[in-house]
Amino acid sequence: METAILSSPITPPAVLNLAPLVIGDIVIDPPLALAPMAGHTNAAFRRLCREAGGCGLVCTELISSQAMHYAKGSRKSERFDWGTDEHPLAVQLFGSDPAQMADAARLVADHGATLIDINMGCWVPKVAKKGGGAGLLRDLCTAQAVVEAIVRAVAIPVTVKVRSGWTADDLTAIPFARAAEQAGVCAITIHARTAQQGFSGQADWGVIRQVKELVSIPVVGNGDVQTAADAARMLDETGCDGVMIGRAALGNPWVFSQIVHELATGEALPRPGRAERARMALRHARLAVETGWQGEHMAVLELRGQLAVYRLDATGEGTIRNRLVRAGSLAEVESILLPLCGDEPVTAGDG
Ligand SMILES: Cc1cc2nc3c(=O)[nH]c(=O)nc-3n(C[C@H](O)[C@H](O)[C@H](O)COP(=O)(O)O)c2cc1C
Repeated sequence: METAILSSPITPPAVLNLAPLVIGDIVIDPPLALAPMAGHTNAAFRRLCREAGGCGLVCTELISSQAMHYAKGSRKSERFDWGTDEHPLAVQLFGSDPAQMADAARLVADHGATLIDINMGCWVPKVAKKGGGAGLLRDLCTAQAVVEAIVRAVAIPVTVKVRSGWTADDLTAIPFARAAEQAGVCAITIHARTAQQGFSGQADWGVIRQVKELVSIPVVGNGDVQTAADAARMLDETGCDGVMIGRAALGNPWVFSQIVHELATGEALPRPGRAERARMALRHARLAVETGWQGEHMAVLELRGQLAVYRLDATGEGTIRNRLVRAGSLAEVESILLPLCGDEPVTAGDG
Protein backbone atom coordinates (compact mmCIF):
# COMPACT_ATOMS: atom_id res chain seq x y z
CA MET A 1 0.00 0.00 0.00
CA GLU A 2 1.18 3.51 -0.72
CA THR A 3 1.07 5.69 2.35
CA ALA A 4 2.69 9.05 2.84
CA ILE A 5 4.90 9.18 5.90
CA LEU A 6 6.20 12.50 7.07
CA SER A 7 9.88 12.44 7.84
CA SER A 8 11.38 14.58 10.54
CA PRO A 9 13.49 17.60 9.68
CA ILE A 10 15.38 17.15 12.95
CA THR A 11 18.84 15.62 12.96
CA PRO A 12 19.42 12.91 15.57
CA PRO A 13 22.11 13.28 18.15
CA ALA A 14 25.38 11.82 16.87
CA VAL A 15 25.28 8.93 19.31
CA LEU A 16 22.32 7.63 21.26
CA ASN A 17 22.57 4.62 23.50
CA LEU A 18 19.40 2.60 23.15
CA ALA A 19 18.55 0.94 26.46
CA PRO A 20 16.77 -2.40 26.14
CA LEU A 21 13.02 -2.42 26.60
CA VAL A 22 11.95 -4.79 29.36
CA ILE A 23 8.39 -6.10 29.30
CA GLY A 24 7.69 -8.28 32.33
CA ASP A 25 10.64 -10.67 32.23
CA ILE A 26 11.23 -10.29 28.48
CA VAL A 27 14.20 -8.23 27.33
CA ILE A 28 13.78 -6.50 23.99
CA ASP A 29 17.12 -5.33 22.73
CA PRO A 30 17.29 -3.10 20.79
CA PRO A 31 14.00 -1.50 21.83
CA LEU A 32 12.65 -1.36 18.28
CA ALA A 33 9.58 -3.39 17.37
CA LEU A 34 8.00 -4.37 14.09
CA ALA A 35 4.37 -3.21 14.22
CA PRO A 36 1.61 -5.75 13.61
CA MET A 37 0.35 -5.29 10.06
CA ALA A 38 -2.44 -7.42 8.62
CA GLY A 39 -1.44 -8.94 5.30
CA HIS A 40 2.25 -8.20 5.90
CA THR A 41 3.69 -9.37 9.21
CA ASN A 42 3.49 -13.07 8.49
CA ALA A 43 6.23 -15.53 9.43
CA ALA A 44 8.25 -14.73 6.31
CA PHE A 45 8.37 -10.99 6.80
CA ARG A 46 8.95 -11.25 10.53
CA ARG A 47 11.93 -13.48 9.86
CA LEU A 48 13.37 -11.08 7.28
CA CYS A 49 13.17 -8.17 9.74
CA ARG A 50 14.88 -10.21 12.42
CA GLU A 51 17.61 -11.44 10.10
CA ALA A 52 18.31 -7.94 8.80
CA GLY A 53 19.07 -6.98 12.41
CA GLY A 54 18.03 -4.22 14.78
CA CYS A 55 14.51 -5.51 15.33
CA GLY A 56 14.07 -6.49 18.97
CA LEU A 57 10.46 -7.62 18.81
CA VAL A 58 8.16 -8.88 16.09
CA CYS A 59 4.40 -9.17 16.23
CA THR A 60 1.84 -11.21 14.34
CA GLU A 61 -1.02 -9.47 12.62
CA LEU A 62 -4.28 -9.33 14.56
CA ILE A 63 -5.95 -12.71 15.10
CA SER A 64 -9.64 -13.06 15.84
CA SER A 65 -10.40 -14.65 19.22
CA GLN A 66 -13.92 -15.33 17.98
CA ALA A 67 -12.68 -17.22 14.91
CA MET A 68 -10.40 -19.18 17.20
CA HIS A 69 -13.35 -19.98 19.43
CA TYR A 70 -15.35 -21.38 16.49
CA ALA A 71 -12.34 -23.24 15.11
CA LYS A 72 -12.23 -25.03 18.46
CA GLY A 73 -8.51 -24.78 18.87
CA SER A 74 -7.47 -25.93 15.42
CA ARG A 75 -4.04 -24.39 14.80
CA LYS A 76 -4.15 -24.52 11.05
CA SER A 77 -7.11 -22.28 10.56
CA GLU A 78 -5.84 -19.71 12.98
CA ARG A 79 -2.67 -18.39 11.45
CA PHE A 80 -0.43 -19.97 14.05
CA ASP A 81 2.49 -19.41 11.74
CA TRP A 82 5.25 -18.74 14.24
CA GLY A 83 8.22 -20.93 14.92
CA THR A 84 10.33 -21.53 17.97
CA ASP A 85 13.13 -19.39 16.52
CA GLU A 86 11.08 -16.21 16.54
CA HIS A 87 11.42 -15.08 20.12
CA PRO A 88 10.56 -12.62 21.41
CA LEU A 89 7.29 -12.70 19.50
CA ALA A 90 4.07 -10.93 20.39
CA VAL A 91 0.86 -12.55 19.21
CA GLN A 92 -1.91 -10.02 18.78
CA LEU A 93 -5.51 -10.91 19.55
CA PHE A 94 -8.70 -9.01 18.96
CA GLY A 95 -12.23 -9.41 20.24
CA SER A 96 -14.51 -8.07 22.93
CA ASP A 97 -15.68 -11.18 24.77
CA PRO A 98 -13.46 -11.55 27.85
CA ALA A 99 -13.93 -15.34 28.06
CA GLN A 100 -13.17 -15.87 24.35
CA MET A 101 -10.16 -13.59 24.56
CA ALA A 102 -8.87 -15.45 27.60
CA ASP A 103 -9.30 -18.82 25.85
CA ALA A 104 -7.50 -17.53 22.78
CA ALA A 105 -4.68 -16.15 24.93
CA ARG A 106 -4.26 -19.52 26.65
CA LEU A 107 -4.10 -21.25 23.29
CA VAL A 108 -1.46 -18.99 21.75
CA ALA A 109 0.56 -18.99 24.99
CA ASP A 110 0.52 -22.80 24.87
CA HIS A 111 1.81 -22.59 21.30
CA GLY A 112 4.86 -20.56 22.21
CA ALA A 113 3.94 -16.86 22.13
CA THR A 114 6.31 -14.73 24.21
CA LEU A 115 3.80 -11.94 24.77
CA ILE A 116 0.08 -11.52 24.22
CA ASP A 117 -0.86 -8.17 22.71
CA ILE A 118 -4.46 -6.95 22.82
CA ASN A 119 -5.57 -4.99 19.77
CA MET A 120 -7.34 -1.77 20.73
CA GLY A 121 -6.45 0.10 17.57
CA CYS A 122 -8.18 -1.51 14.63
CA TRP A 123 -10.91 0.85 13.44
CA VAL A 124 -12.19 -1.07 10.40
CA PRO A 125 -15.96 -1.56 10.81
CA LYS A 126 -15.95 -5.36 10.75
CA VAL A 127 -13.75 -5.28 13.89
CA ALA A 128 -14.65 -2.04 15.70
CA LYS A 129 -18.42 -2.23 15.15
CA LYS A 130 -18.48 -5.57 16.92
CA GLY A 131 -16.76 -3.92 19.88
CA GLY A 132 -13.26 -5.26 19.23
CA GLY A 133 -10.11 -3.35 18.25
CA ALA A 134 -10.53 0.39 18.68
CA GLY A 135 -14.19 -0.31 19.54
CA LEU A 136 -12.92 -1.16 23.03
CA LEU A 137 -11.88 2.47 23.42
CA ARG A 138 -15.59 3.34 23.40
CA ASP A 139 -16.37 0.89 26.16
CA LEU A 140 -13.64 1.01 28.75
CA CYS A 141 -15.52 -1.32 31.13
CA THR A 142 -15.40 -4.11 28.56
CA ALA A 143 -11.83 -3.19 27.71
CA GLN A 144 -10.85 -3.59 31.33
CA ALA A 145 -12.73 -6.87 31.62
CA VAL A 146 -10.90 -8.20 28.55
CA VAL A 147 -7.53 -7.17 29.94
CA GLU A 148 -8.24 -8.67 33.36
CA ALA A 149 -9.48 -11.94 31.86
CA ILE A 150 -6.35 -12.35 29.75
CA VAL A 151 -3.97 -11.39 32.54
CA ARG A 152 -5.64 -14.02 34.75
CA ALA A 153 -5.52 -16.64 32.00
CA VAL A 154 -1.83 -16.63 31.07
CA ALA A 155 1.53 -16.55 32.81
CA ILE A 156 3.31 -14.64 30.02
CA PRO A 157 3.32 -10.82 29.87
CA VAL A 158 0.27 -9.10 28.38
CA THR A 159 0.49 -5.83 26.47
CA VAL A 160 -2.07 -3.57 24.79
CA LYS A 161 -1.78 -1.55 21.60
CA VAL A 162 -4.16 1.39 21.53
CA ARG A 163 -5.00 4.35 19.40
CA SER A 164 -4.96 7.74 21.18
CA GLY A 165 -8.72 7.56 21.43
CA TRP A 166 -11.78 7.22 19.27
CA THR A 167 -11.88 10.93 18.40
CA ALA A 168 -9.63 13.88 19.19
CA ASP A 169 -12.22 15.07 21.73
CA ASP A 170 -12.01 11.86 23.66
CA LEU A 171 -8.42 10.70 24.15
CA THR A 172 -9.36 7.61 26.15
CA ALA A 173 -5.91 6.05 25.82
CA ILE A 174 -4.81 8.33 28.64
CA PRO A 175 -7.25 7.19 31.37
CA PHE A 176 -7.25 3.66 30.00
CA ALA A 177 -3.46 3.36 30.33
CA ARG A 178 -3.70 3.74 34.10
CA ALA A 179 -6.55 1.19 34.31
CA ALA A 180 -4.62 -1.25 32.13
CA GLU A 181 -1.56 -0.94 34.34
CA GLN A 182 -3.66 -1.62 37.42
CA ALA A 183 -5.16 -4.64 35.69
CA GLY A 184 -1.70 -6.13 35.22
CA VAL A 185 -0.72 -5.13 31.70
CA CYS A 186 3.07 -5.08 31.35
CA ALA A 187 3.46 -2.48 28.58
CA ILE A 188 1.32 -0.24 26.42
CA THR A 189 1.90 0.78 22.82
CA ILE A 190 0.30 4.00 21.62
CA HIS A 191 -0.36 4.56 17.93
CA ALA A 192 -0.70 8.28 18.32
CA ARG A 193 -3.66 8.76 16.01
CA THR A 194 -7.34 8.56 16.79
CA ALA A 195 -9.49 5.79 15.35
CA GLN A 196 -11.40 8.44 13.43
CA GLN A 197 -8.17 9.49 11.72
CA GLY A 198 -7.46 6.06 10.26
CA PHE A 199 -4.03 6.68 8.75
CA SER A 200 -4.64 10.28 7.75
CA GLY A 201 -2.94 13.32 9.18
CA GLN A 202 0.09 13.23 11.37
CA ALA A 203 0.52 11.25 14.58
CA ASP A 204 0.35 13.45 17.69
CA TRP A 205 3.14 12.16 19.88
CA GLY A 206 1.98 14.40 22.73
CA VAL A 207 -0.42 11.62 23.75
CA ILE A 208 2.51 9.21 24.09
CA ARG A 209 4.23 11.67 26.41
CA GLN A 210 1.09 12.11 28.50
CA VAL A 211 0.69 8.36 28.94
CA LYS A 212 4.37 7.99 29.76
CA GLU A 213 4.01 10.59 32.51
CA LEU A 214 1.05 8.72 33.97
CA VAL A 215 2.14 5.08 34.17
CA SER A 216 5.14 3.14 35.44
CA ILE A 217 4.96 0.30 32.90
CA PRO A 218 6.97 0.68 29.67
CA VAL A 219 5.38 2.78 26.95
CA VAL A 220 6.10 2.06 23.30
CA GLY A 221 5.61 4.93 20.86
CA ASN A 222 4.19 4.36 17.40
CA GLY A 223 3.20 6.49 14.44
CA ASP A 224 5.16 8.00 11.56
CA VAL A 225 8.63 6.83 12.51
CA GLN A 226 10.54 6.33 9.31
CA THR A 227 14.12 7.34 10.00
CA ALA A 228 16.70 7.40 12.78
CA ALA A 229 15.94 11.11 13.20
CA ASP A 230 12.27 10.31 13.76
CA ALA A 231 13.09 7.57 16.28
CA ALA A 232 15.49 9.83 18.19
CA ARG A 233 12.94 12.63 18.23
CA MET A 234 10.16 10.32 19.45
CA LEU A 235 12.35 8.96 22.27
CA ASP A 236 13.41 12.46 23.21
CA GLU A 237 10.05 14.21 22.99
CA THR A 238 7.94 11.53 24.65
CA GLY A 239 10.34 9.69 26.95
CA CYS A 240 8.95 6.43 25.57
CA ASP A 241 10.80 3.19 26.29
CA GLY A 242 10.63 1.68 22.83
CA VAL A 243 9.67 2.57 19.28
CA MET A 244 7.37 0.55 17.03
CA ILE A 245 7.73 0.84 13.28
CA GLY A 246 5.16 -0.23 10.71
CA ARG A 247 4.92 1.16 7.20
CA ALA A 248 8.54 2.22 6.98
CA ALA A 249 9.52 -1.46 7.25
CA LEU A 250 7.40 -2.56 4.29
CA GLY A 251 9.73 -3.53 1.46
CA ASN A 252 12.49 -2.30 3.76
CA PRO A 253 13.31 -4.85 6.48
CA TRP A 254 16.68 -3.08 6.86
CA VAL A 255 15.03 -0.08 8.50
CA PHE A 256 15.67 -1.33 12.06
CA SER A 257 19.37 -2.06 11.61
CA GLN A 258 19.82 1.22 9.77
CA ILE A 259 18.20 3.16 12.62
CA VAL A 260 20.27 1.34 15.25
CA HIS A 261 23.45 1.94 13.27
CA GLU A 262 22.74 5.61 12.74
CA LEU A 263 21.79 6.24 16.35
CA ALA A 264 24.88 4.43 17.59
CA THR A 265 27.39 5.98 15.20
CA GLY A 266 25.84 9.09 13.70
CA GLU A 267 26.42 7.58 10.25
CA ALA A 268 23.44 7.17 7.92
CA LEU A 269 23.70 4.05 5.76
CA PRO A 270 22.52 4.22 2.16
CA ARG A 271 19.38 2.36 1.18
CA PRO A 272 20.38 -1.02 -0.27
CA GLY A 273 20.75 -0.99 -4.03
CA ARG A 274 18.29 -2.57 -6.44
CA ALA A 275 20.06 -5.95 -6.68
CA GLU A 276 20.07 -6.29 -2.90
CA ARG A 277 16.42 -5.29 -2.71
CA ALA A 278 15.57 -7.81 -5.42
CA ARG A 279 17.42 -10.55 -3.54
CA MET A 280 15.50 -9.66 -0.38
CA ALA A 281 12.21 -9.69 -2.31
CA LEU A 282 13.08 -13.10 -3.77
CA ARG A 283 13.91 -14.50 -0.35
CA HIS A 284 10.68 -12.96 0.95
CA ALA A 285 8.70 -14.76 -1.77
CA ARG A 286 10.33 -18.12 -1.23
CA LEU A 287 9.98 -17.93 2.54
CA ALA A 288 6.34 -16.89 2.26
CA VAL A 289 5.55 -19.94 0.17
CA GLU A 290 7.57 -22.19 2.46
CA THR A 291 6.02 -20.92 5.69
CA GLY A 292 2.55 -19.93 4.47
CA TRP A 293 -0.30 -21.89 5.93
CA GLN A 294 -2.66 -21.52 2.98
CA GLY A 295 -0.58 -23.05 0.18
CA GLU A 296 1.40 -21.54 -2.69
CA HIS A 297 -1.46 -19.90 -4.57
CA MET A 298 -2.75 -17.90 -1.60
CA ALA A 299 0.79 -17.06 -0.53
CA VAL A 300 1.54 -15.64 -3.97
CA LEU A 301 -1.68 -13.62 -3.98
CA GLU A 302 -0.70 -12.09 -0.63
CA LEU A 303 2.82 -11.52 -1.91
CA ARG A 304 1.63 -9.27 -4.71
CA GLY A 305 1.28 -6.25 -2.43
CA GLN A 306 4.21 -7.23 -0.26
CA LEU A 307 6.70 -7.44 -3.14
CA ALA A 308 5.46 -4.37 -4.97
CA VAL A 309 6.77 -2.16 -2.16
CA TYR A 310 10.42 -3.19 -2.68
CA ARG A 311 10.49 -0.45 -5.33
CA LEU A 312 12.37 -2.38 -7.96
CA ASP A 313 11.50 -0.17 -10.91
CA ALA A 314 13.69 2.60 -12.19
CA THR A 315 12.07 5.94 -11.33
CA GLY A 316 8.93 6.59 -13.29
CA GLU A 317 8.56 3.03 -14.57
CA GLY A 318 6.08 0.58 -13.19
CA THR A 319 6.96 -2.47 -15.23
CA ILE A 320 8.34 -4.72 -12.50
CA ARG A 321 5.66 -3.67 -10.04
CA ASN A 322 2.92 -4.31 -12.59
CA ARG A 323 4.27 -7.78 -13.31
CA LEU A 324 4.64 -8.59 -9.60
CA VAL A 325 1.07 -7.62 -8.78
CA ARG A 326 -0.17 -10.02 -11.46
CA ALA A 327 2.07 -12.98 -10.68
CA GLY A 328 0.19 -16.22 -10.06
CA SER A 329 2.91 -18.63 -9.00
CA LEU A 330 6.26 -18.68 -7.24
CA ALA A 331 7.93 -19.65 -10.53
CA GLU A 332 6.53 -16.52 -12.12
CA VAL A 333 7.71 -14.33 -9.24
CA GLU A 334 11.16 -15.91 -9.52
CA SER A 335 11.28 -15.27 -13.26
CA ILE A 336 10.60 -11.57 -12.61
CA LEU A 337 13.03 -11.16 -9.72
CA LEU A 338 15.99 -13.39 -10.64
CA PRO A 339 17.20 -11.20 -13.52
CA LEU A 340 17.35 -8.24 -11.10
CA CYS A 341 19.41 -10.00 -8.50
CA GLY A 342 22.79 -8.93 -9.86
CA ASP A 343 25.94 -10.90 -10.39
CA GLU A 344 25.88 -12.91 -7.23
CA PRO A 345 24.35 -16.32 -7.85
CA VAL A 346 21.00 -16.88 -6.19
CA THR A 347 20.48 -20.54 -5.52
CA ALA A 348 17.54 -22.47 -4.15
CA GLY A 349 19.35 -22.45 -0.81
CA ASP A 350 18.98 -18.70 -0.63
CA GLY A 351 15.26 -19.06 -0.32
C1 LIG B 1 -1.42 -2.62 6.17
C2 LIG B 1 -1.52 -2.35 7.64
C3 LIG B 1 -2.05 -3.31 8.47
C4 LIG B 1 -2.15 -3.08 9.85
N1 LIG B 1 -2.61 -4.09 10.66
C5 LIG B 1 -2.59 -3.91 12.01
C6 LIG B 1 -2.89 -4.98 12.89
O1 LIG B 1 -3.16 -6.12 12.48
N2 LIG B 1 -2.88 -4.72 14.23
C7 LIG B 1 -2.56 -3.47 14.73
O2 LIG B 1 -2.55 -3.28 15.94
N3 LIG B 1 -2.23 -2.46 13.91
C8 LIG B 1 -2.21 -2.65 12.58
N4 LIG B 1 -1.80 -1.65 11.76
C9 LIG B 1 -1.31 -0.39 12.36
C10 LIG B 1 0.20 -0.45 12.58
O3 LIG B 1 0.53 -1.46 13.51
C11 LIG B 1 0.74 0.89 13.09
O4 LIG B 1 0.09 1.19 14.30
C12 LIG B 1 0.49 2.03 12.11
O5 LIG B 1 0.84 1.65 10.79
C13 LIG B 1 1.29 3.28 12.51
O6 LIG B 1 2.65 3.02 12.52
P1 LIG B 1 3.62 3.50 11.29
O7 LIG B 1 3.41 4.97 11.10
O8 LIG B 1 5.01 3.15 11.76
O9 LIG B 1 3.18 2.73 10.09
C14 LIG B 1 -1.72 -1.85 10.39
C15 LIG B 1 -1.18 -0.88 9.54
C16 LIG B 1 -1.06 -1.12 8.20
C17 LIG B 1 -0.45 -0.06 7.31
